[in-house]
Amino acid sequence: MEEMAVNLAVVGATGAVGEEFLRILESRKFPVKELRLLASRRSAGKKMQFCGVDYTVHELTKHSFQGIKIALFSAGASISREYVPYAIESGSVCVDNSSAFRMDDDVPLVVPEVNPQDIAKHHGVIANPNCSTIQMVVALKPIHDVARIKRIVVSTYQAVSGAGLKAIDELRKETASVLDGKEGFRRNLFPHQIAFNVLPQIPQSSAFLPNGYTSEEMKMMNETKKIMGDNNIRVTATTVRVPVIRSHSESVNVETEKKISAAEVKKLLSVAPGIRVVDDPANQLYPLATDAAGRDDVFVGRIREDESIEKGINLWIVSDNLRKGAALNAVQIAEMLL
Ligand code: A2P
Repeated sequence: MEEMAVNLAVVGATGAVGEEFLRILESRKFPVKELRLLASRRSAGKKMQFCGVDYTVHELTKHSFQGIKIALFSAGASISREYVPYAIESGSVCVDNSSAFRMDDDVPLVVPEVNPQDIAKHHGVIANPNCSTIQMVVALKPIHDVARIKRIVVSTYQAVSGAGLKAIDELRKETASVLDGKEGFRRNLFPHQIAFNVLPQIPQSSAFLPNGYTSEEMKMMNETKKIMGDNNIRVTATTVRVPVIRSHSESVNVETEKKISAAEVKKLLSVAPGIRVVDDPANQLYPLATDAAGRDDVFVGRIREDESIEKGINLWIVSDNLRKGAALNAVQIAEMLL
């Protein structure tokens, strides 16, 4: 691996996903020659540890990418739109965790367990899909290959860390404040109290679209088709924020063209890459956000036939949104680039 070592930049290093990038690169022994940590001016000079060494965070500028082979972006779509072109101009290949380029025709949108072949088609940027979409397609691809999925109905239960470190802080403070008997809600990041509550609006900051959906819901609907390479799959989504710090959970209903039994799905998923089946109802074993946090797998359970239709399956899918939903998936893509 040593001779393959590359100069790597992490844009948004100080964020929730950025911190996870460093942990994952370290634990997977990604061959890093030079590491450049980039964030806003506010963080310039801050120190972060990687492999036991202190690295200084630098302010992101258009000159930040000289000599950089791979740039991992996770600082939001507007930063990606502005700086990915400079990175490409400097000769870097970008793996972008934002939504900026995901639906562009010439940008591959990749989940390595599903469509690794698309990586080769890149022109300097590969998009990392939406967190809720990644864990769903990892679990559904093996079913689609065997029984052809016609329609997906998904409802999510998403952790606050998907909205960044400030959102985690807001949930913590609000929870403590409510438990203290003080007033919990002071309008900050979320438009309503998130502690002891459930908010059917993701992202919290953006307006609903004319069709009544949120952009997160549209991402799940559009990105699923692109990653699975099948425009015929019909998808409808409801995305919901819950007071959980880490790991997104999803209730997923699929209708298939070919009949497939719950037992067959269980068998199929138990040998599929990146999936851990946890489905032992008699012992109250099913995927949990708390168990998935800090782990790499997509956990699937509650697998059962939909008794309301002829060919349908229900599943409960849980994964760490900062790992497989973001940093891990991006690092897997970077590994394939090597
Ligand atoms: P900073 O910590 O300096 O604000 P999160 O998703 O947890 O909110 O993190 C967002 C990441 O994006 C952080 O690393 C943040 O850096 C970075 N970021 C935000 N705005 C900018 C900017 N204008 N230029 C570079 N990085 C930015």
